[in-house]
Amino acid sequence: MVAALALAGCAPKLEEEKPIVSYATDVHSYAKPAEAKVVHSELDLQVHFDRKTLEGSVTHRIEGNGKIILDTRDLKIEKVESSPNGENFLSAQFQMGATDKILGTPLEVTLPEGTRFIKVTYSTSPAAVALQWLDAMQTAGKKSPFLYTQGQPIYTRSWIPLQDSPGIRITYKARIRTQPNFFAVMSATNDQKTGAPTGDYRFDMTQPIPPYLLALAVGELQFRMIGGRTGVYTEKPMLDAAAKEFSDLDSMVSSAERLLGNYRWDRYDVLVLPPSFPIGGMENPRLTFATPTIIAGDKSLVSLISHELAHSWSGNLVTNATWSDFWLNEGFTVYVERRIQEELYGKQRSEMEFAIEIGELKAEMATLAAGDQKLHVDLKGRDPEEGVTLVPYVKGALMLRAIEDEVGRERFDSFVRGYFDHFAFQSITTETFEKYLAEKLPGLKLEVKEWIYKPGLPASTPKINAYLLTSVDEQLAKWKKGEAMDTREWVAQQWLHFLRGLPPTLTAAQMAKLDADFKFTKSGNSEILDAWLILAIRNKYVAAQLALEEFLSRVGRQKFLKPLYLEMAKTAEGKARAKALFAKNKPGYHPIAAASIGALLAK
Ligand code: BES
Ligand code: ZN
Repeated sequence: MVAALALAGCAPKLEEEKPIVSYATDVHSYAKPAEAKVVHSELDLQVHFDRKTLEGSVTHRIEGNGKIILDTRDLKIEKVESSPNGENFLSAQFQMGATDKILGTPLEVTLPEGTRFIKVTYSTSPAAVALQWLDAMQTAGKKSPFLYTQGQPIYTRSWIPLQDSPGIRITYKARIRTQPNFFAVMSATNDQKTGAPTGDYRFDMTQPIPPYLLALAVGELQFRMIGGRTGVYTEKPMLDAAAKEFSDLDSMVSSAERLLGNYRWDRYDVLVLPPSFPIGGMENPRLTFATPTIIAGDKSLVSLISHELAHSWSGNLVTNATWSDFWLNEGFTVYVERRIQEELYGKQRSEMEFAIEIGELKAEMATLAAGDQKLHVDLKGRDPEEGVTLVPYVKGALMLRAIEDEVGRERFDSFVRGYFDHFAFQSITTETFEKYLAEKLPGLKLEVKEWIYKPGLPASTPKINAYLLTSVDEQLAKWKKGEAMDTREWVAQQWLHFLRGLPPTLTAAQMAKLDADFKFTKSGNSEILDAWLILAIRNKYVAAQLALEEFLSRVGRQKFLKPLYLEMAKTAEGKARAKALFAKNKPGYHPIAAASIGALLAK
């Protein structure tokens, strides 16, 4: 009794009895890393554009024994072998479990005593959710097909059988073989940038990364250097425009380094994908994947690159342990994105961009269930995509901004830098963050628990003063009174704010006048065009019909597509049109976008 009491008296000590490496429970993976885990993977894959499959093997170096469970989805497993040394392989016993719609199928391998390596020979399905196989016509060059992967959050398992949890970190090597005229690039060293393509490529990622960051793209790619450690890959027709738009890439890296400490991934390159890429950007290490819809000709949408670059620290270096902790990746990233933009393009532009994001957050929050308004979201039994709202992004960044406002920039900067150093190459939970925060910034008054575990925006939400948007509001007021506006100095975000600030219903004459004055239907800025097309649908502005159909068939970015299809679906007649257009465009969309839009129109 006495002993028990004594123990209870120093309760925190009990924690030390846990194994040194403990894993947060990830409800989105079948892996049991505490029993056996993968630490290094070697891929050997052949790319078959004709069959739309990847075929080959992955060899995992593992730690642990008994059995190991890998995640798979729609994979055809040919055989599994085991080895004590990575050289002599013997056939191993394996078993596929029941398939779950969201999680896929567990692959359980029985490990003979002394097993240190397992090799899985397999092929992918043409419907693999991580892979988009583009026909030549869907590319900029129109001559050759194209393939790219999207791993986050739980899609890597559809092209590689592995332990697909962000709590697990692996190094990897790969050999990728494809047609000789194609280049392959990965989220790893990309040494063979210039010269004639060979069709046989090797890659090495020597720093441990979570599996959702494994990435591959194959196509007729070209490379252009931007600075000493930065450059851009894309198809030839896009190369000049991309290099021009991203000419600040080196300065962005230097700016991020001043804030966060050394960039630890050697090179920072950007791959600009064909327009069907379903998201804006993906922070694959050393090689951000990006949508071409941010190439506006005036660098007005490059904050997306600042964002993906920021993930080199928040996300790639310090990773959310589970998808419920996703705000640790995105909230920090949006905060850092704002700081990079501030240093490069000035405080006014950065605050304006933040204010726009906050407006979008508030609009989305109004449509979300209370549980999804929390930073830490319960995703048990749910698709982790359901947690991808602006809450982890913008509410997360707002909380960090509130901390900065309280403790001052200098102290907050040293906290942030210390955080990335302390947890470098680790995957952490929200709780770990909370503890670290309490330890490093003791006496913080901010209601951190409320921010993380309660819905809505706390009273301590910082006010963002975006002078450049206030000036738009003044002009909007004039427009509403029928007076002339002064829009001469406006930049893209101001036009966006203007369009969103217009009355929800406009007459045919008003729409026509706006279009005649400001040429919205012909805008080369995807954000402005998207906002205008929303108005066009709502107000049945037929002159934009062709532009709408062209946009929906060319662009695959869900951020644009979902609101457009949703706006159409608000009337019965519009819904029928939305369904018809979706049926026509679906073959050109990425499987992820096709699924999400299909679900939305089925409601
Ligand atoms: N990591 C995300 C993309 C992502 C998140 C993919 C969750 C799958 C699941 C990326 O960094 C991102 O946030 N992209 C944004 C752009 C950003 C500027 C807000 C996007 O694609 O819209
Ligand atoms: Zn992000």
